[in-house]
Amino acid sequence: MDYCKGRITKLLVDYFGNDFRRITHALDVLKHSEKIMESTEIYDYDIMIASALLHDIGIKKSEAVLGHNNGKTQEEYGPPIAEELLKKINFPPEKITRVCEIIGNHHSRSRFDYIELKILKEADRIVNDLESG
Ligand SMILES: [Fe+2]
Repeated sequence: MDYCKGRITKLLVDYFGNDFRRITHALDVLKHSEKIMESTEIYDYDIMIASALLHDIGIKKSEAVLGHNNGKTQEEYGPPIAEELLKKINFPPEKITRVCEIIGNHHSRSRFDYIELKILKEADRIVNDLESG
């Protein structure tokens, strides 16, 4: 899909607005996912980019509705928002399903044997470690 990275980055930025910390986190996770992808044979580029950029997209609604967020609430609130956003850019439906499965599973034991899920978890762990110094 042409300009996939640019389109999804815009969705992310429009959605998070002035929450620069979350935007930076997502971009860092994308950067580390891309680094890991260099040494990985099989992956779907669009699914990887979308999953990395939108993996924490449920945070804002979780905080608005519940007043807090954690891994479990992010997994719950994230997929419907990711689906809505990705539909706007005509992201292929079968890839949306997969991205939503990945977002809905990125903080718990893997229920899917997807390389993109594995890469996202590893990249998120690296970035979280770097952020907590
Ligand atoms: Fe994250």
